[in-house]
Amino acid sequence: MRILLTGGTGYIGSHTAVEMIRAGYEVELLDNLANSKITVLDQVEKITGVRPKFYEVDLCDRAKTLAVFRAGKFDAVMHFAGLKAVAESVEQPLRYYENNIGSTLSLLEAMKETGVGRIIFSSSATVYGDQDPGETGFSETAQTGAGITNPYGWTKMMIEQILRDYAKAEKGTSVTLLRYFNPVGADTSGLIGEDPNGIPNNLMPVVMKVYRGEIPELTIFGDDYETRDGSCERDFIHVTDLANGHIKALENQRPGVAVYNLGTGKPTSVFEIVGAFEKVAGKKLSSKIGERRAGDLARLFANPSLAEKELGWKAERDVETAVRDTLRYLRNLK
Ligand code: UD1
Repeated sequence: MRILLTGGTGYIGSHTAVEMIRAGYEVELLDNLANSKITVLDQVEKITGVRPKFYEVDLCDRAKTLAVFRAGKFDAVMHFAGLKAVAESVEQPLRYYENNIGSTLSLLEAMKETGVGRIIFSSSATVYGDQDPGETGFSETAQTGAGITNPYGWTKMMIEQILRDYAKAEKGTSVTLLRYFNPVGADTSGLIGEDPNGIPNNLMPVVMKVYRGEIPELTIFGDDYETRDGSCERDFIHVTDLANGHIKALENQRPGVAVYNLGTGKPTSVFEIVGAFEKVAGKKLSSKIGERRAGDLARLFANPSLAEKELGWKAERDVETAVRDTLRYLRNLK
């Protein structure tokens, strides 16, 4: 099977490309390189021995996107491409809606035009809004949409709806919505990892920069939450586990719409992540407690049992493994 990965040189796209090549799939990658580097292709080749075909294309360019599909003869698409900085999306809503939604519409048009009937979409736990996950974590049947605080989150919610409507209209289409929790870690080779352009927002990229001395200290956003240790709790999932979830989703895809959480089901606190990092790195990270960050929930974690039941997938790697793999990647960076 030949699969197109949009956003294929990004953090999750590149790890999925590696796992798919390892599993024997033919993958082609498309990216506009807005938040990733072309050198990722060299790294993928070093890891797997295969250099995937690459299209430097912005999906919002409908003519170019259609040309890729006419050339490619794809069996399925994994749609990772999108802008994903939460605070930036609040400042630049039009850019976020235009890019994330426009690119998806262009992609679907090209798929329709060339008869590609299968898509797996990178959704996010952010669609669960501001509910409390309780003791069991969010199930896929939990309400979505209420309490989403930013345009980035709304684009995920809206694209889910667009894909549902598309599947209804185009009989025989298979849509899988994968709701990611908090991806961390890196491939065991240490050759690819998370390398965002500019100032990072997410916890692990900030921790990485503090470790490297590029940011003087980590600010922990709040230690007065009603959680085990007062810091926020999240469901940190190793990116390789996440990548393998895509392969399982592809193997089990049927016409219609399916939705799966990809998480570990185990909440880990911000203090615990920092502690795990310090333990594995053998070095203290300078940090301070700051104000709560607007829009943060105290707790967010998955109930991942549906993916286990229907896809035969579950996360296998723990947070320490993710930290160890992250450090291997960091030590390889110049
Ligand atoms: C965020 C987004 C989510 C998005 C995901 C991936 C919000 C409210 N949610 O998830 O929609 O899908 O990123 O891009 O922005 N933290 C610190 N100090 C830091 C950075 C983070 O203490 O410098 C804490 C946060 O308060 C949070 C935890 O670390 O409790 C995880 O933060 P982050 O990595 O940004 O992920 P989320 O906020 O869970």
